[in-house]
Amino acid sequence: MPANKKLLILPGDGIGPEVMAETRRVIDWMDRRRLVRFDIAEALVGGAAIDAEGTPITEATMQAARDADAILFGSVGGPKWDKLGFDLRPELAILRLRKELDLFANLRPAVVLDPLVDASTLKPEVVRGLDIMIVRESTGGVYFGTPRGVETLPDGQQRGFDTESYTTGEIERVARVAFELARKRGLRVTSVEKANVMQSGLFWRQTVTALGARDYPDVALSHMYADNCAMQLVRNPRQFDVIVTSNIFGDLLSDLASMLTGSLGMLPSATLGAVQPSGKRHALYEPIHGSAPDIAGKGIANPLAQILSFAMLLRYSFDMEEDARLIEGAATAVLAAGLRTADLAGPGGTAAVGTRAVGDALLAELERRAA
Ligand code: IPM
Ligand code: MG
Repeated sequence: MPANKKLLILPGDGIGPEVMAETRRVIDWMDRRRLVRFDIAEALVGGAAIDAEGTPITEATMQAARDADAILFGSVGGPKWDKLGFDLRPELAILRLRKELDLFANLRPAVVLDPLVDASTLKPEVVRGLDIMIVRESTGGVYFGTPRGVETLPDGQQRGFDTESYTTGEIERVARVAFELARKRGLRVTSVEKANVMQSGLFWRQTVTALGARDYPDVALSHMYADNCAMQLVRNPRQFDVIVTSNIFGDLLSDLASMLTGSLGMLPSATLGAVQPSGKRHALYEPIHGSAPDIAGKGIANPLAQILSFAMLLRYSFDMEEDARLIEGAATAVLAAGLRTADLAGPGGTAAVGTRAVGDALLAELERRAA
């Protein structure tokens, strides 16, 4: 039997712990029923860590993250911690993990599952069969660029500023991830920026163009301004295969794309680092929804984005494609059977069930499929 796989679980705040509890049941099921063993450690992050440990993520937790084979992250933040000041935000936990582990490629698939085609706010004929992959750069750009701050001007006004910046290397490595993914999919990459307005956007476009011509002539590369891309995602989303874009545009466009699929509560993501000489690759998996403080603690959150993030973990960190598909197939079956949380139930549709009921149904379906 292969060595145990080291998982670090970071549930975080809001609905994070609720949806993670259902995911834990799926992990335990895998551990019991499939040929895989997990060593699981769990720690606090975000507001929960601020309350208990005085910081959004402790050094010990950072070290555990470096040591883990894969990290399963929930979500952080909430109104309780809004007044703490910029240097003590719960969000710093995820930003620090991405930056210090150099997790530069954030993969955000937007897939419309057949049973959910009516849950989208767009017409079924626009979204049916949709399968796009947004590759968001996640360690650079305006999220981390310097200088940044708030200064006082001679006339007494204040000025707030951030810096968008990308180097050749930063652009090339994330674009490579996009090109490689396209080779396993539809052989098309759309690179998104604002080359018409931003110097860094024009540089992004030129760099991706040169890389594509040099190393990926077999992949059809096109370019799009970010505002147009937002519009095209709503107008005709199936025109896209792989989208590659900066940190901030990827943040916006992936939230937008999530609603094509019916709910923000459905979208998993993987954030990958470079493959190191040892063969190891840091990786973190998280739903793209946030901590949803408005529904936290009510037992009504959709656990599927978190559970599907675990499926991505099996696929990308452990090459366990069959097991990933087992979970994805079971999730689709549960939705097809009409078991849906409130975010998906919708007016005139099936009545909503709770977080736990979706977990129960998913486990029953896994049992059935593995029998
Ligand atoms: C996301 C989130 C984060 C981001 C926040 C929580 C810092 O919105 O993962 O999309 O902006 O990257
Ligand atoms: Mg976001």
